[in-house]
Amino acid sequence: MLRILVVGSGGREHALVWALRRSPAVREVYCAPGNPGMKEASCLPVGAGDVAALVRAATDLRPDLVVVGPEEPLARGVVDGLEAAGVRAFGPTQRAARIESSKVYAKQLLARAGVPQPDHRTFDSAEEALRWVRQLGGRCVVKADGLAGGKGALVCQDVREAEDAVRSLMVEGRFGEAGRRVVVEEYLEGEEASALAFVDGEVVVPMVLAQDHKRLLDGDRGPNTGGMGAVAPLAHLPGSLTEQVTREILQPTAKALCDDGAPFRGVLYAGLMLTREGPRVLEFNARFGDPEAQVLLPLLESDLTEVLVAACTGRLEDVRLRWRPGAAVCVVAAARGYPEAPQTGQEVRGLDKPLPPASLVFCAGVARRDGKMVTAGGRVLNAVGLGADVRQAREAAYRVLEHVRFDGMHYRTDIGLRALRAVGAER
Ligand code: AMP
Ligand code: GLY
Repeated sequence: MLRILVVGSGGREHALVWALRRSPAVREVYCAPGNPGMKEASCLPVGAGDVAALVRAATDLRPDLVVVGPEEPLARGVVDGLEAAGVRAFGPTQRAARIESSKVYAKQLLARAGVPQPDHRTFDSAEEALRWVRQLGGRCVVKADGLAGGKGALVCQDVREAEDAVRSLMVEGRFGEAGRRVVVEEYLEGEEASALAFVDGEVVVPMVLAQDHKRLLDGDRGPNTGGMGAVAPLAHLPGSLTEQVTREILQPTAKALCDDGAPFRGVLYAGLMLTREGPRVLEFNARFGDPEAQVLLPLLESDLTEVLVAACTGRLEDVRLRWRPGAAVCVVAAARGYPEAPQTGQEVRGLDKPLPPASLVFCAGVARRDGKMVTAGGRVLNAVGLGADVRQAREAAYRVLEHVRFDGMHYRTDIGLRALRAVGAER
C-alpha cells in the first residue's frame, strides 16, 4: 500500500489528492501545505515554495511518491532535491522546468524543434522593445520572461497599450525580475485549447483536450486571471486534433528537451491557439493546469496512481489511458477583488451540505479560523459537474453554487458555453 505526498494548496492539488485517494493501492495521501477543505489528505505545515523544508519533510515522511502541483517549487528545483535525497518524485527537474520558468528558453527550444509558435522577438532593453512595438503598429502581446502567476501576458490592441505594457514590465518592474526581459509576439486569432500529456523522456501519453477561461468576466472580458473555469473534452473540435497536436507539438518538444540534456518527467502542458493555419503554441507549462486538472482528473477512468508510478519507473509506454464518456465542467468561485486584491476572511457556508448528484467541490483559497471555513485567497473553490454532455455537466456544476456561499463570491456564468454552442452549431 502506497503513501503519497502532494505539494501545493489549491484546487488542482485538491483534485490530485482526490484522484490519488481513489486508488485501491493508496493507503494515505499527505499534502504540503494543502488546505482545510481537503478531507482526503493529512496536511503538513510546509509551504510549497520552501524547497529545503519540503525535501526535509519528505525525507522524514519517506512517501513512496511525491507529486508536485505548482510551478514554483519545480522552478526552484524541488524534484532535484527529492531525487538527491532518494525520494521518488513525479515532476520535472529544475532544468526541464525551464520550459515554463523562462519564456525565452521555451521559444528557443520550440524554434529548434520546429514546433509552430507565433512570430516573436526577445528584448532586454526597454528602448528597443518600445521601438519594435511602434514599428509593429501596436497589436501584439507583451510577455514577461519569468513566472508571473499566469498574469504576465499583456494583450495589446494599439501602440499606446503596447508602450504602457513594455514600460510597466521593464521600467516599473510590475512583475519584478520576471519582467525585466520580455518577449513581444504577434497577436493570433482563434480558439484556445490546453493540451496536457503524461511524459517520461520521449514517451508522451496525451490526455483529452481541455479549455480554460482565463478572463475574469463573462464573454471573455476583463483582465487575465489564473483561470476562472474549464471544460473537457472538446467534443466540438475535430477528433484528429489530439493526434495532430501530439505529433506536431508534444512529441517534438519532449524529444528536444531530451536532446538538450533535460529529459522531462511529469505533465507537459501546451497552451494552444487554434488558428486557421493550425495549432500554435502560446506557452508551455511544466505541470497540470489549474483549473484544467479539476476537469481532467474526474474524467480519467484509469488509476492516476498507476499512471504516475509507471511514469516514474520507466513504464509509461505501456499505459493506455481510459476516459469516462461525457464531459466535465469546472466553475471557479472567486473572492471580491480578485485578481488585483482579493478580500479574505469571509465565512464560506454550505460546504458541509451533501453535494447534488454528479458534482464535486475542490477547495483552493480557504483557511480554518475559530472552527469556521473562511476565504484565504483569490480563487476560493471549484464547483465541478459531470454529465453525459457539456450541457449536463454545466448544470451539475452551477447547481453546486446554489448552496455554497461567501460574501463577495463571484463566478462566470458562461463556462463551457462556447463548447456547448459549437456542438449545437455542428448539429
Ligand atoms: P500565456 O501566459 O502566454 O498563456 O498567455 C495568457 C493568455 O494571453 C493566453 O491564454 C491568451 O488568451 C493570451 N495570449 C497569449 N499570447 C497570445 C498571442 N500571441 N495572441 C493572442 N493571444 C495571446
Ligand atoms: N490554467 C492555466 C494554468 O494552469 O496555467
